[in-house]
Amino acid sequence: MSRLVVVTNRVPSADELTHLEQGSVAVGGLVSAVKSMMLRQRGLWLGWSGRGTSRGRPGAPGATFSHGPVDLATIDLSEDELNLYYTGFANRTLWPLLHCFLERVSIRRESYRAYQRINRRFAETLFPLLKPDDAVWVHDYQLFLVGHFLRQAGWKGKLGYFLHVPFPPTEAFDILPWGPEILQGLLQYDLVGLHTESYRRNLVNALAAETDGAWDGRNFTYDGRTSRIGVYPIGIEPDEFREPARLSVPSLSDVLSLPPDPDNKIIVGVDRLDYTKGIPLRLRALDRMLERRPSMRGKVTFVQISAPSRTRVPEYVKEREDVEMLVGQINGKFSEMGWAPIRYLYRYFPQRDLARFYHDADVGMVTPLRDGMNLIAKEFVAAQGDDPGVLLLSRFSGAAVEMGDAVVVNPYDIDGTSEALYMALQMPKPERVERWRSMMDVVVSNSSSHWGESFYGDLERGTEGISG
Ligand code: F6P
Repeated sequence: MSRLVVVTNRVPSADELTHLEQGSVAVGGLVSAVKSMMLRQRGLWLGWSGRGTSRGRPGAPGATFSHGPVDLATIDLSEDELNLYYTGFANRTLWPLLHCFLERVSIRRESYRAYQRINRRFAETLFPLLKPDDAVWVHDYQLFLVGHFLRQAGWKGKLGYFLHVPFPPTEAFDILPWGPEILQGLLQYDLVGLHTESYRRNLVNALAAETDGAWDGRNFTYDGRTSRIGVYPIGIEPDEFREPARLSVPSLSDVLSLPPDPDNKIIVGVDRLDYTKGIPLRLRALDRMLERRPSMRGKVTFVQISAPSRTRVPEYVKEREDVEMLVGQINGKFSEMGWAPIRYLYRYFPQRDLARFYHDADVGMVTPLRDGMNLIAKEFVAAQGDDPGVLLLSRFSGAAVEMGDAVVVNPYDIDGTSEALYMALQMPKPERVERWRSMMDVVVSNSSSHWGESFYGDLERGTEGISG
């Protein structure tokens, strides 16, 4: 087997890796999936250290360290570089574009130039560390062009890429002036992976519109190069959310000092605080349910956990203000002595606490407006026990493709979502168990190890033997 070399925008520090193994820290889905894969085999992991360096030290080579079988190499970025590449092009241009929030897309040449420079730096830092038999796997939209610059540096070996977010329809992708370069860059990879068939279709349509290449249902061939384009839905490690992981942690009612009342139902929402996650519409659906179903007042507590995210990006600052204002309005409207409909927590929680919260909830609301996969949905399912809660899941998440036994909602339809929420709160146990079992089968079989192994296996086998 080749040595696996993974490249991600950010790598965890040595401390974070230790905490990750103990479940005492929560990180994004990408890092937790890659970490499970990397800790099982010998490999190299390269990425930004997660810190901005002071002015005058732009892009100095960062630290290298080992953790178990993995060698980690980091790249430092200056504050200016971070503002243009990460906050600017990755988070204010590509993120809204790929999630189809077109009115939020910022087009700035300076940001794109920084994005090119940093992608080139990733490639040029990596190239001297590579051995000819390595299999290089680049991740996500922050690093689209790393493959292009690696080939330019002379890399002839195996090269794969996975996009963790949606790929939008051509009409949306077209608004990016540098879309053609990004698409050409993608064709430098031997294998490109996406979460769903519809993202793959969108990408192939964009490639076909841009080039006169040929698509045979698996391979895109253009200018003498063939790239496989496959579907690999990412998962979680279900055992990390099952009982033993939760035992030592206080219950949600204890954490929130909720009065013990078996009739009081708990709804939970857990998200990075991001405008794609649909938190305001979710709160409006709760508001609508409490208006239309007065019997639910005093009987239900909605716990929204929002993890701080991308706090330098103005759209995220505004989203936080909007969410917090709505929480205040709804609580002001319905609260009674000893009961408030919403408990709002703006902070990070370790993974094992989240596992306990999911387990204690009667309903998990995962209602993004657009989401590549959404691993919270899978974590919620994995954490349930004999008396499982109900998952309310947006049809605009990649997870909905695999988890049709959730209560699937359109989050833009506030009336529909509020009725689905009411129904979920009343759902009898046999139906809850039946739906949960079928979703749990998916979560167990499409775990993050399965995802990593199938992509890596296909990259290893080369274009001839790929199954995705
Ligand atoms: O999956 C999308 C993604 O941007 C990942 O690349 C990243 O790990 C995660 O969301 C969290 O985002 P950020 O690194 O910008 O905090």
